[in-house]
Amino acid sequence: MSGAAPLVAAVFASGGGSNLQALLDHRAADPPWQVGLLVSDRPGAGALARAQAARVPHRVISTKGRTSDDVAAETLAALAHHGVQVVYLAGYLKLLPAPVVQAFSGRILNIHPALLPAFGGKGMWGMHVHQAVLASGARLSGPTVHLVDEEYDRGRILAQWPVPVLPGDTPESLASRVLAVEHRLYPMTADHLCRAVIQGREPDPLSLPGETFTLVP
Ligand code: GRF
Repeated sequence: MSGAAPLVAAVFASGGGSNLQALLDHRAADPPWQVGLLVSDRPGAGALARAQAARVPHRVISTKGRTSDDVAAETLAALAHHGVQVVYLAGYLKLLPAPVVQAFSGRILNIHPALLPAFGGKGMWGMHVHQAVLASGARLSGPTVHLVDEEYDRGRILAQWPVPVLPGDTPESLASRVLAVEHRLYPMTADHLCRAVIQGREPDPLSLPGETFTLVP
């Protein structure tokens, strides 16, 4: 983005970090933000290796056996140290402590692999989500990007991208079809949020171009 300096983003991830990778790869598009920090709660998370390979500062903030206040203090200190202005949760399996949510209100995104408000909430993560979608008989699934508040998967929805559920789908085949779309939707929605933040306004829901909705697996 020409003009204003890009916002500094922190990505939080507990797992392999393919969405982190999509956000890192989006650098090539010169977005209005850049990843300045990766935080994981798990020392073995693949996301840490991806951050390291991309020479992005990264740290483990463990939540095990600690109070939420303690985790909040360490998290807020790390975010301040790196000058973080926006936060993207990308497969982060912990609830962000309330003081962190409050400090970054309206500036935290999460991506969920189903069409919220269905198939969300506590316990709805990973393959559990796709199993529940298949069990329901739904014909459509697809990722949702939403602002984060103090409960799982509940904040204002900014973007959704419908993906077909096909006959014979397994949780794994559906997950991989949805994940491929996540990698396009998340960077796009991050751009959209940051443009609004830079202009000092609330983001509208993101309208995706019509061709985006072509139901091709
Ligand atoms: C994605 O399906 C995302 O929607 C969910 O967790 C998964 C993370 O995958 N919140 P990855 O670690 O980014 O590959």
